[in-house]
Amino acid sequence: MKSTVAANDGSGAAIFPELTRDVIDRMRDSANPRLREILSLVVSHIHEIVREANITQDEWWRAIEFLTRAGKMCSESRQEFILLSDILGISMLVDAIDHVGGPGLSESTVLGPFYAGQQRELAAGESILLREEESDPLEMRGRVADSRGRPIENALVEVWQTAPNQLYDVQDKDQPGGHLRGSFRTDGAGTFFFRTIMPVSYPIPNDGPAGQLLAAMGRHPFRPAHIHFMISAPGYRTLVTHLFLDGDRYLASDAVFGVKPSLVIRPRPIDGMNTVEYDFGLADQRESPRAQV
Ligand code: BEZ
Ligand code: FE
Repeated sequence: MKSTVAANDGSGAAIFPELTRDVIDRMRDSANPRLREILSLVVSHIHEIVREANITQDEWWRAIEFLTRAGKMCSESRQEFILLSDILGISMLVDAIDHVGGPGLSESTVLGPFYAGQQRELAAGESILLREEESDPLEMRGRVADSRGRPIENALVEVWQTAPNQLYDVQDKDQPGGHLRGSFRTDGAGTFFFRTIMPVSYPIPNDGPAGQLLAAMGRHPFRPAHIHFMISAPGYRTLVTHLFLDGDRYLASDAVFGVKPSLVIRPRPIDGMNTVEYDFGLADQRESPRAQV
């Protein structure tokens, strides 16, 4: 099709507006209205970025080459697109839109790329370590309840964290698979209890395109020390969250923007043992108004 304003003539007029309209119009026969809605926005916003930033052929080629490298980096154990989504704040924005919040409900945060599926179920009080680590022990006790504080029995509490060497088992062939991961069930009072070690801060994988982008933006790749939780129960929305250690130097600059004040914990010594007690609130699946961003 012919352009009325074929090139940037410096007049400030929108360049080639009919192209954008044409791309969007040609989706009119799509059988998927939601896809059409989203793709129309994607097309119009990207076209607008290209116009506004005066993107050159060379810059667009570099962007394509960057995304190609990100794709090639992906494997069973590496998800570069999750990292890009996380470091650009997109994961936390989607979470803010899709998570049901409110009184009595826990806040959520990013899943990250290292959830490895449901792990062995352990009894209350068992350790999630499969080998010894030179690290301070930690006892993690908590309760899972609904928004009104009524206990949820038999909720599945899945947890995972890195070893003191800053790596998850799936990143480190020297760790036994399933090390520092486990699943627990809440009892009739909604409580769970497991033993672990103090988590450490660690860099997200930064030897690929996401790491190069972080460096180009002048940012560090570190996440503050945390333990991941995924808590599910029939009839309730699954909660994906972490607990972060108070005092960590990266709390204010998490590489993936995942920290929320309500998720920061301070272990207390109980009988000489670092102990955390934390209660989680799950949203009833029927109460699902959208959170305000
Ligand atoms: C994590 O906490 O496991 C994580 C989250 C986002 C990116 C990389 C790692
Ligand atoms: Fe993590």
